[in-house]
Amino acid sequence: MEIDKPFLKVLSGEKHGRPPFWLMRQAGRYLPEYRKLRAEKGGFLAMALDPKAAAEITLQPIRRFGMDAAIIFSDILTVPMALGQHLEFVAGEGPKLGGLDIDRLEFDEAVLQPVYDALSETASILSREGFRKTALVGFCGAPWTVATYMIEGGGSKDYANTKALAYGQPEVFQKLIDKLVDATAQYLIGQANAGAEALQIFDSWAGALDPHGLQHWSIEPTKTIVAKVKAIHPNIPIIGFPKGVGVHYVAYAKQTGIDAVAMDSLMCTRWAVNNLQPLMPVQGCLDPMRLLAGGDGLEKATRKIIKDFSGGPHIFNLGHGINKETPIEHVETLTRILREG
Ligand code: CP3
Repeated sequence: MEIDKPFLKVLSGEKHGRPPFWLMRQAGRYLPEYRKLRAEKGGFLAMALDPKAAAEITLQPIRRFGMDAAIIFSDILTVPMALGQHLEFVAGEGPKLGGLDIDRLEFDEAVLQPVYDALSETASILSREGFRKTALVGFCGAPWTVATYMIEGGGSKDYANTKALAYGQPEVFQKLIDKLVDATAQYLIGQANAGAEALQIFDSWAGALDPHGLQHWSIEPTKTIVAKVKAIHPNIPIIGFPKGVGVHYVAYAKQTGIDAVAMDSLMCTRWAVNNLQPLMPVQGCLDPMRLLAGGDGLEKATRKIIKDFSGGPHIFNLGHGINKETPIEHVETLTRILREG
């Protein structure tokens, strides 16, 4: 591990003078250079599966703002695609997945090769262009969150079909989760082999589960994935992001085997300082809408987060993905505040 990278230093449990930072969904539509490339390439999936384009987009926010971590430009829904489920992104509507037959899902890792190639390409450009302190991050969706898209066929408000299956026919749902656990672990190992220096597991809809469901469908599968990855790559840091789970963040952090925990913006930072940061490094947790709104509110909220977490290892980030309407100038302001310390 290249320990002179601030992001990796903090993940290893050290404190750092100013918190290293990156922003979830830092590559994307709020950047004019992204929108330009997207218009040329004809859509999100075409770019994500083109290693050169994906590497280029991964680097766009780094060149502009100099984040401490570059997250590979891809999506959590590449895994259902590799399992054989049809995936498309309809402009303005988000992801649409084809019909699901759990028994017929079969993992074809070759589908994910473009992501691995994009990682190696990004790693080589980072060192060539002198971004020696920027760490490269790979990621995946957690089985529960990915399963919601596979079952609902896209985004959902209440995950009714997924919960009906998980709570009503747990043995059927378990078959899907088991396939996702195996494929996801292999995917993360592939990303580490290709040059990812840290990994983040997005469980964006974990907060929709009741405590028993959370234990069974979020914590347990994540724990198995982490163990499988660590068996091959014992030193790669893994960040878990069980969005919206409130007090259950503690159980998640203690049981899954992750190295750091990413928090959403609803969490009380003082609570996290007392209950989470003593366990492991914490990442987060500015409300993306503070960044959208800008002004005094952005500055105050940012400084409060930095101050509250200043006693232990902290990586500054948003509590969820950046909003596509976010003005570039607000990101510049945030970057300036974070540099000043
Ligand atoms: O953070 C980064 O910059 C890396 C890239 C990244 C994307 N998706 C690119 C993307 C990451 C880490 C993700 C994760 C992801 N994808 C999650 C988990 C994090 C979260 O936000 O909760 C989820 C739930 C998805 C599924 C997904 N992908 C949805 C619901 C959508 C449509 C919504 C939207 O913002 O358009 C996507 C598309 C997507 N993934 C875009 C990007 C940049 C937008 C594509 C475009 O229209 O240009």
